[in-house]
Amino acid sequence: MAATTEPILRVEGLYARISGQQVVEDVSFEVPRTGVTALLGRNGVGKSSTIKAILGIIDRTGTVEFDGAPIQGLRTEKIVQRGIAYVPEDREVFATLTVAENLLLAQRQATPNRELVDELFPELRARAQQAAGTLSGGQQQMVSLARALLNDNRLLLVDEPTKGLSPRLVGEVAQVLKTAAETTPMLLVEQNLTVVRELAQDVVVLSGGRVVHRGPAREFLDDERLVHRHLGVAGAEPDAAAGAPHTQAPQPMTEPAATETEERP
Ligand SMILES: Nc1ncnc2c1ncn2[C@@H]1O[C@H](COP(=O)(O)OP(=O)(O)O)[C@@H](O)[C@H]1O
Ligand SMILES: [Mg+2]
Repeated sequence: MAATTEPILRVEGLYARISGQQVVEDVSFEVPRTGVTALLGRNGVGKSSTIKAILGIIDRTGTVEFDGAPIQGLRTEKIVQRGIAYVPEDREVFATLTVAENLLLAQRQATPNRELVDELFPELRARAQQAAGTLSGGQQQMVSLARALLNDNRLLLVDEPTKGLSPRLVGEVAQVLKTAAETTPMLLVEQNLTVVRELAQDVVVLSGGRVVHRGPAREFLDDERLVHRHLGVAGAEPDAAAGAPHTQAPQPMTEPAATETEERP
């Protein structure tokens, strides 16, 4: 039994290739048992690949320890059975299935956290019979998060949940993540530094598939030169709550995706 001060996830010397290209190179970091660890870096540096390598979705070498036990030899389905939930980039909902069907398919346990999901995502209940592909991007993100939170998880891997969302929805998603993180440790890929500041205690910064910085989130975000060097943008303002009024809009690290301003009916 691992001591409680041990990290829930330890990644050591992780390497992964996609189509012959090295996309994760000697990556090492830890995710503590509580709170949010943000995985940062410009577009294309290997954040999503790192998460996929942890899950064994792409081939990798190196050590991945979950709760003190090596999991790098396990297949993806065995890894997720240990209680690691994955909320992929771009939501990946089943477009032609209803919201209810999407949730039903995600359910791993006999008694899912239905009340929690209804409370966190009141809109999904009203849209239970709507095809998920007809939902707005924000609503699809809610479905994607709800699929994960229906189950009891021991670790959440969440990849760019606020991408392309309107400021109001960014705030809503951030609130959901904050609630989830109260009970479950999270590795969060997030481009919106205001959200990172609001949620994360630690950051791991990648560049070219390698870790270029690790440490407390505040220390990193407050260091404008570091933020600029590794992310190419100014840091988020201190203490600006996600979704709260701020004089400077949350700055994406790269060109923003088309922002959604209105939800579809
Ligand atoms: N399916 C794929 N086929 C080929 N190259 C890919 C694929 N997925 C990612 N890559 C490449 O791997 C690198 C890392 O990508 P990714 O992990 O998605 O970065 P990030 O999530 O940080 O934006 C990039 O150079 C990207 O072009
Ligand atoms: Mg990505």
